[in-house]
Amino acid sequence: MKKTTKVNQRKNKFYVTTPIYYINDVPHIGHAYSTIAADTLARYYRRKLGKDNVLFVTGTDENSQKTINAAELAGQGTEEYTELTAEKWQNIFNTLDITYNRFIRTTEDDHKKTVQDILQKVYDNGDIYKGVYEGLYCVGHEAFMKEEDLVDGLCPDHKKAPEHIKEENWFFKLSKYQERLKHYILDNPDFIQPQSRRNEVLSFIETKGLEDFSISRETQEWGIRLPFDDSQVAYVWFDALLNYVTAAGYGTDKFSKWWPADLHIVGKDIIKFHCIYWPAMLWSAGLELPHQVFAHGFFTNNGEKISKSLGNAIDPIALVQKYGNDALRYYLLREITFGSDGDFSLQRFNEVYNSDLANNLGNLVSRLATMLIKYNNAQYNEVKVKPRYSYEDDIVKLKFHSCLAELFSWLDSLNGAIEENKPWELFKTDPQKTVEVLSGIACELLLIAQYLEPFLPEASKKIQAVFSNGTVVNAGVLFPKFE
Ligand code: MSP
Repeated sequence: MKKTTKVNQRKNKFYVTTPIYYINDVPHIGHAYSTIAADTLARYYRRKLGKDNVLFVTGTDENSQKTINAAELAGQGTEEYTELTAEKWQNIFNTLDITYNRFIRTTEDDHKKTVQDILQKVYDNGDIYKGVYEGLYCVGHEAFMKEEDLVDGLCPDHKKAPEHIKEENWFFKLSKYQERLKHYILDNPDFIQPQSRRNEVLSFIETKGLEDFSISRETQEWGIRLPFDDSQVAYVWFDALLNYVTAAGYGTDKFSKWWPADLHIVGKDIIKFHCIYWPAMLWSAGLELPHQVFAHGFFTNNGEKISKSLGNAIDPIALVQKYGNDALRYYLLREITFGSDGDFSLQRFNEVYNSDLANNLGNLVSRLATMLIKYNNAQYNEVKVKPRYSYEDDIVKLKFHSCLAELFSWLDSLNGAIEENKPWELFKTDPQKTVEVLSGIACELLLIAQYLEPFLPEASKKIQAVFSNGTVVNAGVLFPKFE
């Protein structure tokens, strides 16, 4: 019998997370992408399950070497830098209208407590031992690397030579969990999605095998001290992954409501940590695994990799100041299939905005409102309409792109119905039929607006205010056109 994980079916609650972000940089479009996707699901599930049954967590990953380096560069103390930068991130997510329930920072006290508690559990369980780590460390990845991973002596992603370090560290017995993990992934096809990433993880386990990894740093001052050796701090990934259990209320009554998480949304760059290290850590600590890890693809900017050194990061705030939050959400979720790589181009952004949001949706709303005001004294008949597309199946599978494609083709057909019926002519011969036609379209549009709420919250709200309880008010311009 085919086994599947019961994503979303457990306890009528939904707990979704984004990666927590390094604070050595300001948010760019890639960070906004993971967060907007999670926000869309959180909004969808709040409507479905009630707002008290959804937990959506995002935040910042602060206990890393990167933070120390960035603070030094900024001429600030690490703590001061951390405070200022975390606040910047939070403000940016607020401007993007991200409806997180908790913005977690790994420097917070409850998180320190979680990390120390779990480290102790894993240690008591015999999964932590002392050894010597000698090798390469890439600060960009905050990960240990091997010679064979380098290209011309450099980390291929960060184009920098990793540091050579030799330290006496504590190691986690990842190798012990190899077979269990492999079988778990095979038995639970939905645990890692999309399929291509699942295959990648399975092939990693089969070809490279799982090696124990160092979970502490001896020379780093900044970080969470190990409970069984306070001369060392926890390795940043061991610490960061645990944010998901801290935010679920680890150590409090709330934990059993939220844990295990339903979904971790991550970029494809960090699947090894989430699909290999994380399950083993949870097993060792006696905790259940999340239902699903979904890895999305990466954006390029006009075909080029987005990187700090190329200086081509796209600022989401500049975009929303001009086009609005809905426009950014629409482009990111409609233009790129979630799970695949995609490209960001300002020209394309503008084209999609004008054709889909300003023309297809915006014009429809204002034309329809104007006609109902003119031909029926700002009234419409509330009629029952049948959904032409049930988007539930797609949205729970994170097929955002299909949802928006279908809903916008439905909008197309409403625009088509106006063209076909020509209310401006029909009204001269059959006013009653004109009102019927326009009312039918208004009620379908309202249904679409409800379905669009998780994707385009602002526009959805405006449309529902224009057509409400049989009365129409002037729509104004929903999406002004830009050349
Ligand atoms: N701090 C770790 C995550 C710890 S989670 C327990 C980290 N942080 S990060 O700031 O470097 O990046 C986090 C995420 O940002 C990536 O996994 C990905 O989700 C997103 N993106 C960063 N650049 C991106 C693109 N160019 N395109 C799409 N998403 C990208 O890794």
